[in-house]
Amino acid sequence: MEALLLGAGLLLGAYVLVYYNLVKAPLCRGIASLRGRTAVVTGANSGIGKMTALELARRGARVVLACRSRERGEAAAFDLRQESGNNEVIFMTLDLASLASVRAFATAFLSSEPRLDVLIHNAGISSCGRTREPFNLLLRVNHIGPFLLTQLLLSRLKTCAPSRVVVVSSAAHRRGCLDFTRLNHPVVGWQQELRAYADSKLANILFVRELATQLEGTGITCYAAHPGPVNSELFLRHVPGWLCPLLRPLAWLVLRTPRGGAQTPLYCALQEGIEPLSGRYFANCRVEEVPPAARDDRAAHRLWEASKRLARLGPGEEAEPGEDSQPEDAGSPSSLSTPHPEEPTVSELYPSPQSSPDLSKVTCRSQIKAEPETPTC
Ligand SMILES: NC(=O)c1ccc[n+]([C@@H]2O[C@H](COP(=O)([O-])OP(=O)(O)OC[C@H]3O[C@@H](n4cnc5c(N)ncnc54)[C@H](OP(=O)(O)O)[C@@H]3O)[C@@H](O)[C@H]2O)c1
Repeated sequence: MEALLLGAGLLLGAYVLVYYNLVKAPLCRGIASLRGRTAVVTGANSGIGKMTALELARRGARVVLACRSRERGEAAAFDLRQESGNNEVIFMTLDLASLASVRAFATAFLSSEPRLDVLIHNAGISSCGRTREPFNLLLRVNHIGPFLLTQLLLSRLKTCAPSRVVVVSSAAHRRGCLDFTRLNHPVVGWQQELRAYADSKLANILFVRELATQLEGTGITCYAAHPGPVNSELFLRHVPGWLCPLLRPLAWLVLRTPRGGAQTPLYCALQEGIEPLSGRYFANCRVEEVPPAARDDRAAHRLWEASKRLARLGPGEEAEPGEDSQPEDAGSPSSLSTPHPEEPTVSELYPSPQSSPDLSKVTCRSQIKAEPETPTC
């Protein structure tokens, strides 16, 4: 009996440790209001993306849910309007596996939406499922599609600066290793898929790093966010049906809720005072160091060039600072000093000094440039 009690006590203690160190997510405490601002969240019909979009809508943003399924996207928009009490939640079609769909989304968005203040690349896949493509589908959905979308929307982000781009990455990047000679090779079998997932999440971090360099001085900042281990459909949807009844309760016990997973992406989108950390990787609502492969500036630049080719980015499509073909009523950079009456000022958007992060203990991105000889992985 005593041994049983001791065993139960140990198990409970172990769970409390796991819960407080892994499961419980620190909350994003930024109090920015987003009234008058527009946010795009990709893959917002489920999981982390849906909870991210909900919080943005609660803060008054116009939120565009960019999802591949009309049915799931419309249903999510309906739920979010109900839950947030904000009618400005709309659905637009975006399939990141298709470059044509990314372009069509960008064209539709730019012609109908005058503002873009926050772009959150949340959509992602961990497996190709039954799909067989002649290219690396995981890299396409998790990195190339978001890369192209960012390029096509950059001019609007610049016009609305200060604006932010958040890429939902993963701690799995630590296992990533980019082989530039096989970047776009089709992925076959679960082992290759696991590897390709980690590679694509490393690509997210290198992309954000290079993007921050290219956007210096534009007022757009960008961040890579790890949501933590989250109880979503990301991996479970690919598990054999007979395993699900076993795995679901376990996942419920040891993984974060999607709402918990949304906290770090939200922190990167909303927290005031983190602009000097543009280009960095965040987890648990704080900046974290990444391994050498993820802070290799040469690899980041090489990936950028390779991504331009894989996204078939035309010569005139890489946005230059200041260029935009937006409708007349979009905010212009000069509107920062004389904001639209009902729009928040910069300090209203990122207002509270007492909740600003302590930047004194972190290295600025530019201070941790990798040694030239550092291998990619
Ligand atoms: N869950 C975790 O433990 C974890 C950990 C680290 C990082 N992450 C990252 O967090 C992000 C969100 O994942 P989640 O856990 O919330 O998973 P999820 O519930 O499976 O959500 C993924 C979302 O991406 C969408 N999506 C998939 N393929 C798409 C495509 N081709 N075009 C447009 N949208 C597409 C999905 O739409 P459908 O519903 O139509 O499939 C879904 O809305 C991912 O980037 C993932 O890598 C998750």
